[in-house]
Amino acid sequence: MEVRIFKNDLEIGEAAGKIICDFVNSKPDCVLGFATGASPVPTYNYITEQYNSGKVSFKNVTTFNLDEYCDLPRDHKNSYWTFMFENLFSRVDVDPAKVNFLDGNADEKAESARYAEAIKSKGGIDIQILGIGRNGHIAFNEPSDKFTDEAWRVTLTQSTIDANSIYFDDIPIPHYAMTMGIGSIMRSKKIILIATGASKAEAVKEMINGPVTPGCPASILQQHADTVILLDEAAASLL
Ligand code: GLP
Repeated sequence: MEVRIFKNDLEIGEAAGKIICDFVNSKPDCVLGFATGASPVPTYNYITEQYNSGKVSFKNVTTFNLDEYCDLPRDHKNSYWTFMFENLFSRVDVDPAKVNFLDGNADEKAESARYAEAIKSKGGIDIQILGIGRNGHIAFNEPSDKFTDEAWRVTLTQSTIDANSIYFDDIPIPHYAMTMGIGSIMRSKKIILIATGASKAEAVKEMINGPVTPGCPASILQQHADTVILLDEAAASLL
């Protein structure tokens, strides 16, 4: 794990965005894994600026997103599909036909197999962006007693429901989600994890300095060969 500490989220967005844009320029048909949540938004803004300045194109890039709520139509304003189109995909030249998402309303086993095969058929994910939950979750892999492998249907914990329910004003937040498993995430060739703010400090400490345990799913990243952790000072305050 390489840990880098920045003054603020804009600097993190620039650092992560540069890694991604440089990589896309070196491999225009690469495979990128994207995350939702507030943490990667400055990165998506930086990428959009680079695209608007003509410095990068995503037209041949294939994308896979980490997770999606169950029991929510894909075009609902709170779906992760909508999030990604609003925050990135509709702002750059990503080809919607090359965008891949888990379907939170599909049969769990069939959907898991479909996603695994789709990722494999593209040669795997070159760079996966991650955030981290306050309880150490990555994607929607909540703390548990075992590490998962391929995509699965998860029951969200109260901590995650509390953290994410601020985004739901018209309907209750779903209590289930389909998420890439820990194995699928770990097979990404490079991982960039972004964490900002004091509310992530404890999870960041456990991820980096704690034991590798499914009780803190992000701790598995200690065993990944090419992971960079980008933190602001508040998120790094307990290191
Ligand atoms: C959700 C997402 C995660 C994300 C986490 C943190 O639970 N499923 O992928 O990392 O929220 O979100 P935020 O960056 O808004 O703190």
